[in-house]
Amino acid sequence: MRLLVTGGAGFIGANFVQQTVRERPDVTVTVLDALTYAGDRASLAPCAQDVDLVVGDVADVDLVDSLVAGCDAVVHLAAESHNDNSLADPRPFLRTNVEGTFTLLEAVRRHGRRFHHVSTDEVYGDLPLEGSTRFTESTPYNPSSPYSSTKAASDMLVRAWCRSYGVEATLSNCSNNYGPYQHVEKFIPRQISNLIDGVRPKLYGTGANVRDWIHVEDHNRAVWAILERGRAGRTYLIGADGEHTNREVVEALLEIFGHPRDAYDLVPDRPGHDLRYAIDSSLLREELGWEPTYRDFAAGLEATVRWYQDNERWWRPHKDRTEQRYRALGR
Ligand code: NAD
Ligand code: TYD
Repeated sequence: MRLLVTGGAGFIGANFVQQTVRERPDVTVTVLDALTYAGDRASLAPCAQDVDLVVGDVADVDLVDSLVAGCDAVVHLAAESHNDNSLADPRPFLRTNVEGTFTLLEAVRRHGRRFHHVSTDEVYGDLPLEGSTRFTESTPYNPSSPYSSTKAASDMLVRAWCRSYGVEATLSNCSNNYGPYQHVEKFIPRQISNLIDGVRPKLYGTGANVRDWIHVEDHNRAVWAILERGRAGRTYLIGADGEHTNREVVEALLEIFGHPRDAYDLVPDRPGHDLRYAIDSSLLREELGWEPTYRDFAAGLEATVRWYQDNERWWRPHKDRTEQRYRALGR
């Protein structure tokens, strides 16, 4: 199989590409990535010999057309992915998430290629902090931020291209990922790199918001299961029953670093901050037989801390600029 992976130099994409090269020698991988601030050639270093990296924009019609023509299937991960950035400047989110997905859909329609669209549970909005309701495939879309609304728009395009043009596409909406190669702007790597630098972790608001954590390798195994065995036109929710408040995550990190559990700072909240995400992934588990392998969040977190300690050369070049942006936001 010749696979085109968009956004393959980003967090989930680089893990997906590395895993694919390691575990599937029959697959040839081409990456299309614009190498924005969030993409890093170094994230593909362990498999650089085996992967063709094309630096370019998913909204570039001619480039996308030629790459799609030369592949059998597309896994689409390229996106502007950070809520805080989307609140500060939504424009790139419209271009990449909406127009980029549209450009890819037109190309897969022209060339009759298989398409898998990687999306987020944030398209469903949020859940109350209290209670045990979870998102399912039939939860109505209700996005809160520029990021999640552009991802929702991209999902709608994929669904429409399936129904109206018969494009052979699947969609997945996953909860918050953690693991190696995640940009230091995101919650967990920001706190880990802060702790390495002797800076106290920063919790938005009261730290009571809940996220449903999944290890990036489990997410990527689910994407492969859907690509191989998923039904065209279907959406699958991906989640590993990993609900924790942000405060619990920070306390766990402080414990790993041997600091008191309350050695964090509360900082001003994110506007429109979604309260709680939680995924019911029964469809994926029952129909495709997928199960997460990282079931112990504390152990997964500890392994992630070790990775950031051992790979400072990878994240250090991004740290100062990221913290400058946060300082400008007062967070
Ligand atoms: P990321 O920001 O780490 O990586 C995004 C990648 O896309 C980067 O390599 C960047 O250079 C590339 N890119 C951005 N704009 C581009 C463009 N116009 N053309 C080509 N490449 C471009 O993001 P991530 O966390 O790896 O997320 C990947 C996908 O998974 C996104 O679609 C995101 O919505 C989705 N997702 C992420 C999470 C999560 O927890 N991180 C959870 C669910 C779904
Ligand atoms: P983030 O990694 O930005 O993911 P998302 O917004 O897609 O869920 O943030 C995860 C949670 O952590 C979210 O509730 C916001 C919170 N957060 C903090 O409390 N402190 C921080 O420094 C950051 C970056 C996020």
